[in-house]
Amino acid sequence: MKYHPINSDLFIQNRAHFSAQMKPSSLAVFNSNDIYPIGADSALPFQQDRNIFYLSGVDQESSILVLFPDCPNPKHREILFLTETNEHIAVWEGAKLDKDAAFKTSGIKTVYWLQDFERVFKEIMTQCNTVYINTNEHYRAHVETETREDRFNSWLRKKYPAHSVAKSNPILQRLRAVKNQIELDIIQEACNITEKGFRRILEFVKPGVMEYNIEAEFMHEFLNNRSKGFAYTPIVASGNSANVLHYIENNKECKAGDLILLDVGAEYANYSSDMTRTIPVSGRFTDRQKAVYNAVNRIKTAATNMLVPGTIWADYHVEVGKIVTSELLGLGLLDKADIQNENPEWPAYKKYFMHGTSHHMGLDTHDYGILTEPMKANMVFTVEPGIYIPDEKFGIRLEDDVVIQDTGSPFNLMRNIPLEADEIESLMNK
Ligand code: GLY
Ligand code: MN
Ligand code: MN
Repeated sequence: MKYHPINSDLFIQNRAHFSAQMKPSSLAVFNSNDIYPIGADSALPFQQDRNIFYLSGVDQESSILVLFPDCPNPKHREILFLTETNEHIAVWEGAKLDKDAAFKTSGIKTVYWLQDFERVFKEIMTQCNTVYINTNEHYRAHVETETREDRFNSWLRKKYPAHSVAKSNPILQRLRAVKNQIELDIIQEACNITEKGFRRILEFVKPGVMEYNIEAEFMHEFLNNRSKGFAYTPIVASGNSANVLHYIENNKECKAGDLILLDVGAEYANYSSDMTRTIPVSGRFTDRQKAVYNAVNRIKTAATNMLVPGTIWADYHVEVGKIVTSELLGLGLLDKADIQNENPEWPAYKKYFMHGTSHHMGLDTHDYGILTEPMKANMVFTVEPGIYIPDEKFGIRLEDDVVIQDTGSPFNLMRNIPLEADEIESLMNK
C-alpha cells in the first residue's frame, strides 16, 4: 500500500459498533472484492470492498471476515480468513499479510488460511441461528456483474438453507455515514492532496493546454503524495463541455476566454475527496462569468450552512432550490413568469441546475448513508451547486467536502483550497 498504516483502533471500534447491532445467536460474513479481468492475463488494479475494509483494514483480495459476537468459543468471535502466504507468492507478488501483520492491521487475533474456511465455518454455523449477509442497497447502485460477495451469498444460502438471513446493509449504511476522527483525518489528507493538485493546476493552465494535460498534472501530484490516484474518473471540461455533467473524455484544447470545470479528487487509503473548481483558461473571468461564479459561490455558502444535525436531505434540497431560483432571477436567466408557471415536480431552476446539491462522502465518493434519516454530527457531505448555461457556452460548479458539527456551521475539509474568484485570478497570474 502507498498509504501510511491506519490506526487499528478504527477497525476495532467499527467492529464493536457493528457487532452491538447484531441479533443474539448470529454471525456476519464479509468478502473482499474480486480482481476484475480485462483480457488475456491482465486485470484492473485491485480495489478492496469498502465494507470488509471498514471492518478490518484488510486491503487484500480473497479475504473473508466473520463476526460472531456471542460465539461460545471466544477465539471465534472475530475471524479473518486470508490467502496463505508463502515464499513463491512473496517472490512473484510481494508478501501478503501474514498472521502477525493481519493482527497489526486489524486488531483481529484469530487468523486462519483460506483453505480452512469451510471446515471452521461449518463448525460455527452449527452454533448460530442467523447469518448476516452483505448486499449493496446504495441508492445509486447499478451493478450488472456478480460480485464475490454475491457468489458467496448464493453458496451460503444453498449450503445452509435452515438459517435465518439478516441484512448487514442497513447497519453499515448507518455506521459508515457517521465518521470517526481517524476517518476524518484520512479524508482530510485526501483533501490536502487534492489541494496540492489544484494549486499545481493554477500555475499550469494557459490557453492551448489540453484537458488531458491538466488530468496528468493532477495525477503527478496525487501519486507523489501516496495516493493511488483519482477517487473517481475526473472531469476536466473546458467551454461547453462543462454542460455535459458526466463529461470524462478530457480530450479537448482549452481555449482563451473559456472556463474549465474541474471535478477532481484524490483518493487516500481508500477514502475519497470530491472537489469541483471552475477556473478561467486565460487567468481572468469575464464580468458575466464572474457574476455567475459568485452566484454559485453564494448558493454554496447558504447550502453549507443548512447542513446541521436534524436536517432532512430532501427538505434541504427544496430550500437550496429556493436560493438557486432567486440567484437565477438576479442573473436574468429566469423571470417571474417562469416561476409562476413552473411545474412543482420539476421547478424552473432545474433548467440550469439539474443535479443534487449534496451526497455522503467517505470510503465511497457517493458514500453510504440513509437519506430519509436526519443528518447527524460527523457525517461528511459534499456541497456542489452549479449553474449550467449551454447558450453561453459555459457551466460553473463549485464543490467542497464538509463535516457536520454538533452545533454551528459544518467544518470545511477544503477550507484551504482556493475558491474565491479573486484568489483564483491572483494565483493564476502570479
Ligand atoms: N465527482 C462526483 C460527484 O461530484 O458527485
Ligand atoms: Mn465531484
Ligand atoms: Mn460530489
